[in-house]
Amino acid sequence: MAAQRAEEDALAGWSARELATLRRRLRAWYREAARPLPWRESHDAYRVWISEIMLQQTTVAAVIPYYERFLTRFPTVAALAAASESDVLQLWEGLGYYSRARNLRRAAQVVVEQHAGEFPQAVEELQALPGIGRYTAGAIVSFAFNRPAPIVEANTLRLYCRLLGTRVDPRSAVGQRLLWEFAGRLPPASEPSEINQALMELGATVCTPREPGCQRCPLLSHCRAAATGLQHEIPPPARRPELTRVVERAVVVRRRGQVLLMQHGVDERWAGLWNFLRFPAEEVTGSLSEHLQQRFGVRATVGDPFHTLTHGVTRYHITLHCHAAQWQSGEPHEGTRPFQWVSLDQLAGVPLPQSGRKLARLLVAEGTTTQRRLFAE
Ligand code: ADE
Repeated sequence: MAAQRAEEDALAGWSARELATLRRRLRAWYREAARPLPWRESHDAYRVWISEIMLQQTTVAAVIPYYERFLTRFPTVAALAAASESDVLQLWEGLGYYSRARNLRRAAQVVVEQHAGEFPQAVEELQALPGIGRYTAGAIVSFAFNRPAPIVEANTLRLYCRLLGTRVDPRSAVGQRLLWEFAGRLPPASEPSEINQALMELGATVCTPREPGCQRCPLLSHCRAAATGLQHEIPPPARRPELTRVVERAVVVRRRGQVLLMQHGVDERWAGLWNFLRFPAEEVTGSLSEHLQQRFGVRATVGDPFHTLTHGVTRYHITLHCHAAQWQSGEPHEGTRPFQWVSLDQLAGVPLPQSGRKLARLLVAEGTTTQRRLFAE
């Protein structure tokens, strides 16, 4: 009840007149201050969609080169629908959260097969596509079709909390309801696209998490948090998930100038990507060579770690011990998992997770002398 009252209080007092003034100020600011980002050059739904999926959990600077490469390779939804999953994953390599790439391809196939290659224009229909949530649907509807639709993502979430002056947890059900309700009142019937872009830009460049630039904010006089000096406390910080430390082993099995790769299955981290033989260290109870034989049916002599790398994946901090091994006999097999032998030159054309790519680069860079030492050839 108290939460509901807080929600009602936060929304009270935003008159149609105030909202109209807010939009006017915001639009004037945006026309001066907007960064020239590549996805702002087009209202094409396909381009808007690709950029918004890439921008989830990823910074603008990291996304720009990926966005440009992706659109050069897959300029239309039909081109993406016709691509192999491996090709799409390869272009995504390094961006992380690879389910985004797999969902993009599946959604492109649905658009081609069920919508004659045209993106639907209704939020509900867009949300039925793989990987498209409420935010992305709203972004496509407003940015591509210039129809009013609410948007709430990381930047606007913070901005709305401060404008409203609410201490409600924005990730709670009550907080979400409040923010989507407020977001629905912001885009006007005419030119909603520009207002939504501007809200996001203000959140990203002025109403920043730490040290918000209140003195240069065009909406300062509307901001309930700034009026009470609470802009640093609002919104309450998200609780960071605890890091879990894990130790894993990667084994580079070599046979006549080729290395062995396994493909990650649908239920695994990095589904669809390839990797060297890789598993949690705790899975190995005897020697590594026995483990390779038991788990993959491969007999090989395995050396001590020649490299150890650390990397993070979501909430995991991974220490990866890398071993070189010389194949002796046995074709690799494990249930339905695909395996392939590739030369070091071919590794560049296979999608690998970042840690696998690091290891692949190391193998290539170390050159033949070290290879000979590592692989005792
Ligand atoms: N973050 C999410 N979507 C964005 C966009 N369209 N422009 C800039 N930053 C964003």
